Amino acid sequence: MAPNLANKPCGGRYGDIIDAIGHTPLVELKSLSPKPGVRLWVKLESRNPTGSVKDRVGRALILDAEEKGLIRPGQTVLEPTSGNTGISLAMICARKGYRLKVVMPDNVTPERTELLRMYGAEIVYSEGAKGSNGAVEMALDLAAKHPDHYMPYQYGNEANPNAHYNGTALEILEELDEVSAFVAGLGTGGTLMGNGRRLKEEFGDKVKIVAAEPMQGEPVQGLRSLDDGFIPPIIDLSLLDRKIFVTNRDAITWTRRLLDEEQLFVGVSTGAIARVAVRIASELDEGNVVFIACDDGSKYFSSGIYTRPLDELENLDSTVWW
Ligand SMILES: Cc1ncc(COP(=O)(O)O)c(C=O)c1O
Repeated sequence: MAPNLANKPCGGRYGDIIDAIGHTPLVELKSLSPKPGVRLWVKLESRNPTGSVKDRVGRALILDAEEKGLIRPGQTVLEPTSGNTGISLAMICARKGYRLKVVMPDNVTPERTELLRMYGAEIVYSEGAKGSNGAVEMALDLAAKHPDHYMPYQYGNEANPNAHYNGTALEILEELDEVSAFVAGLGTGGTLMGNGRRLKEEFGDKVKIVAAEPMQGEPVQGLRSLDDGFIPPIIDLSLLDRKIFVTNRDAITWTRRLLDEEQLFVGVSTGAIARVAVRIASELDEGNVVFIACDDGSKYFSSGIYTRPLDELENLDSTVWW
């Protein structure tokens, strides 16, 4: 290896696509950092095999079930998901010989349906207006009717945060000696809990764990408002130092700013998370602020947010999940 390469481990060499999950780049965003002493970093989870942070979780959920003897080849895995976990599970189940049935709101972008079908998953649609809570409800119902299905249930399965505790967080610690703030979106809470726990172990109260949460009634795909009444069982709210609310408009505007000012092509929840990360960075005088880019923008092309003028986007139907 050339001695001056900083991009360890250069992508690595793996015997299987599932082993290639993780090891994502940490990239500095100099244009968006509000102060010279504050360094803003994004962990590019879009660089996972199916293009999202959920590859880490999909792998952990299936490995956990295999280790505990909860699934056997040919069995149906059932999971409620707004898309990314389903797409990851679809790839992993296809690779390992399980069937997959996902329950997903019917108003997610068509790209998600295409990706799930592409990997051979069966899709059951829940009512879009009920968001991911509607998908969770319907999946729990289906699980009760089909006891032969195995539901990993990422909302209540510790394998989800553990994928971050043993993966994402360790990779961040390999690159940075100090982290002042870690910012991620609140979906199942897995990213925040797993990274939060590991980073607090390392830095104690010096690191602030900050959640980007959508305002109630402002759907941002992948994120959830706890005010909607469902707190995923894996979430321990005491681990969060702050929760900052974001609007749909914030999410779109900042997705565009990441593209226009840093040439980063990311999904809409990353826009919401970046907005919170920049705000936290502006409150500090020095230190590293790390945030997560959950996926890239290819699943959101049909919404037009990457190319249409921003003022036109204000009039788009906000009940569509970006
Ligand atoms: C695009 C996107 N952003 C953010 C999240 C939130 O991550 P977590 O479930 O770890 O809270 C998800 C989770 O599904 C997602 O798909």
